[in-house]
Amino acid sequence: MPKVFITRQIPDKGINLLKDKGWDVSVGPEDKISREDLLEGVKGVDAILSVLTEKIDKEVMEAAGKQLKIIANYAVGYNNIDVDEAKRREIVVTNTPGVLTESVAEHTIAFLFAIAERIVEADKFIRAGKYKAWGPKMLLGADIQGKTLGIVGLGRIGSAVAQRMQDGFDVKIIYYDLKRNEELEEKFGMEYRELDDLLKEADFVSLHTALTDETRHLINAEKLALMKPSAYLINTARGPIIDEAALVEVLKEKKIAGAALDVFEKEPELMPGLTELENVVLTPHIASATLGTRDKMAEMAANNIIAVLEGNEPLNPVK
Ligand code: GLV
Ligand code: GLV
Repeated sequence: MPKVFITRQIPDKGINLLKDKGWDVSVGPEDKISREDLLEGVKGVDAILSVLTEKIDKEVMEAAGKQLKIIANYAVGYNNIDVDEAKRREIVVTNTPGVLTESVAEHTIAFLFAIAERIVEADKFIRAGKYKAWGPKMLLGADIQGKTLGIVGLGRIGSAVAQRMQDGFDVKIIYYDLKRNEELEEKFGMEYRELDDLLKEADFVSLHTALTDETRHLINAEKLALMKPSAYLINTARGPIIDEAALVEVLKEKKIAGAALDVFEKEPELMPGLTELENVVLTPHIASATLGTRDKMAEMAANNIIAVLEGNEPLNPVK
């Protein structure tokens, strides 16, 4: 009987798809699993359903054993998995593209509004009992209409953000990507820029690249220095794309207007100083965390395992 190990509690929909097969399915804890329990849990399994807090490297693949056929990541990003090592061992790696695009795009847009309209600061202001009288210059925010949004990485999520901001809020869109996409440029009335030019021009910069060796610290001190003092930086992609220490410095010195971050360089650890800043909005890696999306991610990861263990092609192989 095929054995499946799910490293953390995920929505039941995904777990049940696998259990309904009559397979031997074990599920890790609600909170982050310890390395020892992970190495123990994967022993002898045919499939691992992993989440992004678990590093799935050579040691884990070795602990699982030669019968391991698939690692299905419950995430679109898969930087937690050593894909090259999996390939060497002929283990399929899959992710969950598409189903979380809208949720992450919506979170990104919520961030843009929250930071520009100073929603979190204003909420704290009221709770702290500081609202004594209405003020003509109290908590002034930034205008959004007519401003320029710079999208770094025009994949599914970057495109969804561009489309919504263009359709709904009359914002000019510029983008940077390794590849130009003339079809989308036309569709969303969008213009291509080299990264440095985008950073100099945009009022809002939003990151949507995968984390790779090329994108690690893509936004470093030098790049941050190109941004306008009135500009905001948004990250719902992966923390290490930004040099977080450099970001804290520029925010402290008010060299940019603010930042909204869902992901962090060493999450769940935060760079010292980050939480003391007023001009940031922080969420704990929840951009895809809606009920509907998380169900779909669980089902997609499970269906990839079912496909591979039943001898079919994976539905969402990463490479
Ligand atoms: C979440 O961060 C994901 O990559 O799905
Ligand atoms: C991820 O789904 C992306 O392509 O943006």
